[in-house]
Amino acid sequence: MRVTMIGTGYVGLVSGVCFADFGHDVVCVDKDPAKIDVLNAGGVPIYEPGLAELVAKNVKAQHLSFTTKTKSAVKNADAVFIAVGTPSRRGDGHADLSYVYAAAKEIAGLLTGYTVIVTKSTVPVGTGDEVESIIRKTRPDLKPSIDFDVVSNPEFLREGAAISDFKRPDRVVVGTNSEKARAVMRNLYRPLFINETPIVFTNRRTSELIKYAGNAFLATKITFINEMSDLCEQVGANVQEVSRGIGLDGRIGKKFLHAGPGYGGSCFPKDTLAVVRTAQEAGTPLKIIEAVVAVNDARKEKMADKVIEGVGGKIHGKTVAVLGLAFKPNTDDMRESPAISIINKLAAKGAQIRAFDPEAMDEARGQLPDIAYCANAYECIDGADALVIITEWDQFRALDFNRVKSLMVEPVLIDLRNIYNPVRMAELGFAYISVGRPQ
Ligand SMILES: NC(=O)c1ccc[n+]([C@@H]2O[C@H](COP(=O)([O-])OP(=O)(O)OC[C@H]3O[C@@H](n4cnc5c(N)ncnc54)[C@H](O)[C@@H]3O)[C@@H](O)[C@H]2O)c1
Repeated sequence: MRVTMIGTGYVGLVSGVCFADFGHDVVCVDKDPAKIDVLNAGGVPIYEPGLAELVAKNVKAQHLSFTTKTKSAVKNADAVFIAVGTPSRRGDGHADLSYVYAAAKEIAGLLTGYTVIVTKSTVPVGTGDEVESIIRKTRPDLKPSIDFDVVSNPEFLREGAAISDFKRPDRVVVGTNSEKARAVMRNLYRPLFINETPIVFTNRRTSELIKYAGNAFLATKITFINEMSDLCEQVGANVQEVSRGIGLDGRIGKKFLHAGPGYGGSCFPKDTLAVVRTAQEAGTPLKIIEAVVAVNDARKEKMADKVIEGVGGKIHGKTVAVLGLAFKPNTDDMRESPAISIINKLAAKGAQIRAFDPEAMDEARGQLPDIAYCANAYECIDGADALVIITEWDQFRALDFNRVKSLMVEPVLIDLRNIYNPVRMAELGFAYISVGRPQ
């Protein structure tokens, strides 16, 4: 099948290359010429494990190409995916749909035969209806279900594991009442039938809400265990054992029960806010999610206080080494990373920040321009009064602590991901602070 991706970011590029690897012919479009130039020169503009190799393979096989020209890419496509950004609208937290609507208008002008237009971007309930209406207004000559259908097909991939998530998803959700469009979507995802991947066919509005309900639930689970970790600290309990103790209950499940500095990333913060706004407008407030948003925001601030406490209450003039800046390991994505709030608060209180991240430093420079960036973990730690682990990259899990201790002014470790053992760290002579575990 001929597939076009409008938007070649984390989702558009990964989905595009995976559809190409399934054997479809894919054109990825982006209006950012710098991105397309990198791709056409054989590079990849983001860090995602396995992506560069898969892109190279499919370009070579002539299943995948990149362009800034929407016109040639949309002409003759069987399915055109909208995979543009839907960030929070400044000021009110609603999803900013301007990129989606602009893409819809652009696509409408270019349709030549029956085409399925698929919203892969995360969009609030009713966006598909609006996309359909934009297409009808732009092209009064076209009729829905005869010349085009608008389908919702939210994406659930996780950055850092995006390719395996796309190729072996827990489920695919497709929202449309059109049998013709369902057949196109079934053909697109046919290679997944071998793994017996469930396809949830539903109507467009339900599909749109499934994505928000999923992210809101996961954000709630993280926030639940984070609050529980605060209680553990007060009553001398161990949050990791609480997680294990409850996670083994099949009704609860083990995943998303790791206490830490609060969720960040390109999805949970904006999607929880957007669904809260949708619900408020619908007159049925989601009070649990409202609380989750507030608790998570406060938590990031609180993590900076943990660091200040670790150095004895006064951070002014102290040097803090930060390991890990990306919002999670195996990505260079800095969007809403807890590192940003923590570092900004520490710097505002007069700390000197030195940082190292294996992949995210180029991205971080835009958001944290005034800190020192180091070439590796040990250079970062050299001369520090405190070491803070914010992102649990594998390479931070087995630091040489004799070396670390010899480099630091004071052996103080604030481990916001609980990757080390408190007893062992005390034996090594560190003042060790973690999250929700007895010191
Ligand atoms: N990043 C994730 O892990 C993830 C996971 C699931 C869902 N999503 C959702 O997918 C959507 C895209 O997210 P992302 O992280 O890939 O965003 P992104 O910012 O990385 O990429 C969006 C791209 O779209 C391009 N673009 C915007 N308008 C365009 C147009 N009219 N024509 C061509 N290109 C255009 C931009 O230049 C940009 O490169 C969002 O709605 C997001 O919520 C993201």
